[in-house]
Amino acid sequence: MIKVVSTVDETRAQVKEWKKQGLTVGLVPTMGYLHEGHQSLIKKAVEENDKVVVSIFVNPIQFAPNEDLETYPRDLDADTKLCDSTGADLIFHPTPDEMYLDGFSTHIEMNNLTKELCGKSRPTHFGGVCTVVGKLFNIVQPNKAYFGQKDAQQLAIIKRMVRDLNFDLEIVGCPIVREPDGLAKSSRNSYLNEDERKAALILSKSIELGKELVANGERNAQTIIKAMTDKINTEPLARIDYVNVVDALNIEPVDTLNGEVLVAIAVYIGKTRLIDNFYYASEV
Ligand code: PAF
Repeated sequence: MIKVVSTVDETRAQVKEWKKQGLTVGLVPTMGYLHEGHQSLIKKAVEENDKVVVSIFVNPIQFAPNEDLETYPRDLDADTKLCDSTGADLIFHPTPDEMYLDGFSTHIEMNNLTKELCGKSRPTHFGGVCTVVGKLFNIVQPNKAYFGQKDAQQLAIIKRMVRDLNFDLEIVGCPIVREPDGLAKSSRNSYLNEDERKAALILSKSIELGKELVANGERNAQTIIKAMTDKINTEPLARIDYVNVVDALNIEPVDTLNGEVLVAIAVYIGKTRLIDNFYYASEV
């Protein structure tokens, strides 16, 4: 039976016991309201480690004041069942006060990789992500940690943070999991009403179009951006935040698809902001 703890001390004590037995530990950091996308990360972690910790924490410092911190969906009972049935061993579910002690004053900021895509429209977001993920790494001391490629910029940033700050673990990126009709799984899909849910398909349709252009040999970033933008604009409920092509390592815009690139979009459907992407790697 899975154990749910809410303090740093309990988590550390459990991990220490496992490490004493020579067991490896995988960490899946989440904000809860878990779906099959998270489940795929947990499955991978279970396959690759002796013990798996899932953290469930809606991290206040990665939300700007105008964002959805208060309404972000939460369901600890359902999350516990999913983690248990998928084979995780421990849920770390701290309160904001446990994570951010009175007088908390230390933050991890990333200067590069945050200027484009989500970092451009959410300027304080990745500082909050890096800070909480750095804390989780220190608390759990995992051998490996698992992140979804749907948040491709986050994944690139965390890999860079691990390299820059010498965290002693491996970061594992896992593929996007989609609904049968193509929509990328996201906790925020639960905000969509029936019409918006249909309209949201425009994201995966434009991703498909982008992939098709690339498969047919298109290498000009602006041509791909324009075609995907035009496609999204056919949906009246959609409002584009960005459509961009960046290099996958440094998250800087590119003119031509060369090396490993990331084609990424963020689109508002009504008030809900959704993201999607695909990677392309040219043969060397
Ligand atoms: O991707 C998420 O759910 C969050 O950004 C993360 C990595 C759990 C940090 O709060």
